[in-house]
Amino acid sequence: MINRSDLENFWTRGDIHTRIHLAMSKAGLNDKSLEIEDLFPIDQYHARGIAATVDLGKRMPISENHKIIDIGCGLGGPARYFAKHFKCFVTGIDITPSFIEIGNKFNKLTSMSEHVYLQIGNGETLDFDDETFDGGYSQHVTMNIKNRKEFFLEAYRVLKKGTFFAFSEHGLGPEGNPIFPLPWADTSEMSFLMSPESTILLLKEIGFYDVQIIETSEKYISGYEKMINAKPEKVEPILGIHVIGGTTMKQRSINSMKSIKEKRTLPFEILCKK
Ligand SMILES: C[S@@+](CC[C@H](N)C(=O)[O-])C[C@H]1O[C@@H](n2cnc3c(N)ncnc32)[C@H](O)[C@@H]1O
Repeated sequence: MINRSDLENFWTRGDIHTRIHLAMSKAGLNDKSLEIEDLFPIDQYHARGIAATVDLGKRMPISENHKIIDIGCGLGGPARYFAKHFKCFVTGIDITPSFIEIGNKFNKLTSMSEHVYLQIGNGETLDFDDETFDGGYSQHVTMNIKNRKEFFLEAYRVLKKGTFFAFSEHGLGPEGNPIFPLPWADTSEMSFLMSPESTILLLKEIGFYDVQIIETSEKYISGYEKMINAKPEKVEPILGIHVIGGTTMKQRSINSMKSIKEKRTLPFEILCKK
């Protein structure tokens, strides 16, 4: 079982504060107010970046002033995008303290602090009253959740009746045995994949209904190919997922792409109702 400090090291890959500060200085973004779009290259910490967040947003029935929870919010990039796009309020929780610290700093720099608040938390034991939120989502987090039932039960508990829960993840494919290291885990100690079929059954058992699923393998394969096959002579951009994911990010992405192609994993999005 992986401990808290190994988990923090896995996600931050050393001194993430300095890496971000240096990259933003080089990109001319330090010490000035920013638009949320300026941060998309580094604050969307999942495959396909902002494109995946926009896709998830198209499926979520969020209205102005809704109170939404983001479980496993990372650096808060998706939360800022949805808060601006839908004019809603997003509370994000994440288990990695450095992500929360940096994410709240990004909220200030983009003048989004009144609409987005991030706090340290564990998706398996949410620190909110029953029926607090008008909707919730979790983007590329559940692969790390061993106690998936507790995670979904908690999401269900904090949502008001008649609202939605959406999430995207890499599910377990029919061939199994993904190739490590992966973007979400260096070894099988941190990776807990479930097939789409078992996930749907579990959600229904908990009480979610109208469970809709979309398989996203092709989109992910082409997203990874674009990133991996970027022309070698092209200089690496200053801001990119490598700033957060460190030097092994490319190899981990190659393994993730191969795992999808070989049907070891199967990425999907789910939208369901409470
Ligand atoms: C791939 S990142 C995705 C971050 C964010 N959702 C995004 O799309 O930019 C996975 C995130 O899940 C968080 N995480 C992993 N296990 C968690 C848990 N039990 N509770 C809350 N967050 C968790 C990690 O700290 C990390 O920020």
